[in-house]
Amino acid sequence: MGANLSKWTMSYFAVAIAWLILAELLMTMGFGFPYAAAEAPDTLVVVHIVCIGWLSMAMCGALFQFVPVLVAKPLFAEGWQIPALVLLTVGLVALLGGFMVLGGRLPAWLWLLPIAALFLVAGFGLVVVDLAITVWRARAPMGPAYFVVAGLCSLCATAGLGSAFACALAGQGGQALGTLLTSGIPLHAIAGLGGWLTLTAMGVSYRLLAMFMLSSDVDGRRIRTTLIAGSATIGLVVAGGLLVIAMETRIDVVLVSAGLLGLATLASYGRDILSLYHSRKRTKLELNTKMAAWGLSSLVAAVLLAVILAISRTFPAHLEAFAFLIAFGWLSGLVLAKLYKIVAFLTWLETYGPALGRIATPRVQDLVIERRAAKWFAAYFLSVWSGTVALLLDQPSMFRIAAFAMTVATLGIVRQLIRTRRLADVAGSLRPSGISAPHLLYASI
Ligand code: HEM
Repeated sequence: MGANLSKWTMSYFAVAIAWLILAELLMTMGFGFPYAAAEAPDTLVVVHIVCIGWLSMAMCGALFQFVPVLVAKPLFAEGWQIPALVLLTVGLVALLGGFMVLGGRLPAWLWLLPIAALFLVAGFGLVVVDLAITVWRARAPMGPAYFVVAGLCSLCATAGLGSAFACALAGQGGQALGTLLTSGIPLHAIAGLGGWLTLTAMGVSYRLLAMFMLSSDVDGRRIRTTLIAGSATIGLVVAGGLLVIAMETRIDVVLVSAGLLGLATLASYGRDILSLYHSRKRTKLELNTKMAAWGLSSLVAAVLLAVILAISRTFPAHLEAFAFLIAFGWLSGLVLAKLYKIVAFLTWLETYGPALGRIATPRVQDLVIERRAAKWFAAYFLSVWSGTVALLLDQPSMFRIAAFAMTVATLGIVRQLIRTRRLADVAGSLRPSGISAPHLLYASI
């Protein structure tokens, strides 16, 4: 049992959650958009705390646990997890420092930006190589593993473009990087949010939803269709985008074509997920699955919003509201929902796995009290949706109130995660002597 546990996944989750709470506090204080421009350095600080600190760290932690189970092979190099975590944390702090330099909040240490890029590329590099070799060593990996591979390729593109921007902003790289910086930001943002985070989340959700709802797996051919459409979308954005930037022609055609292909991907994914829900054997859905559905609903709402805004030709004016709903409703909502189950599952595996068959063991669900967590999740999603409306209506004060509500709701959810880890909600009879709570921040294996 212990062999299936990733020692440091919980540490990644803890660091990720700390960054999420910091981002929410900054938004509550009115730091960054909508109190500063979308491309202002303060906004870039918040964007990267969310994208790298929260979402990418949580995703890396989850993949270290999930990929070996998915391909039934041990992780290539367990020992790389902590160095990667340190490199990513140092790199992120330097990147935030670099953005603060651009905003005049720190002295002119512009060298922070390329240094940050170096650390981040090294950190993400360790994660990518470790996971890619793990998948490669499995002879016939399952469909969802290919989504992870597509996600990792997108991560390389995101980090590559981000590093190029960092060098350009520090005055290195000449005219070519300057042109890339002027026109290439949508490529970086789409490869990161759409490729790395969304494609990977899709792949993981196929397996986790099937597992937690006791559904039959989606037909391999259908998964392949979704995967091809999704990879083609990101490939078109990155390769096509770079080509038109090099040719100095307009990028709009590439972005609109990729948008249509992206819609087809999401329609195909939606069909797969509906078939998972319909074939489920667990009739009473657990909280994590219900909340994942709320995350998926946020994705659907974001897509509808984008279509309506595009038809009314107001998309550029409301791009931030769309990005906010994708980052906090879809991606963060799904990650928080899945963390609620994964933390309980890993805690159960670590605590009761070795004693299985020898003592009376609780079910995974006995480690949590869903009624208590449900109200925090409801508060979280309601505040994210209110925040989106506030951005659409251009109401910054209302946005700050929504951000405060998100912070409180997140703290409420985190408290439940800590209680789960501490076995605080397990009935006394199921905690005989000899059974003690695992370490909060790592697995003792
Ligand atoms: C090696 C890692 C990364 C580096 C060095 C980096 C660097 C940068 C830089 C320098 C910019 C600003 C360009 C400008 O406006 O002048 C930027 C923008 C952006 N980055 Fe990153 N980035 C990295 C990773 C990521 C990741 C993983 C994501 C998402 C998952 C991401 C999402 C974004 C977004 C959405 C913007 C546009 C923000 C806005 O215009 O408000 N970045 N990045």
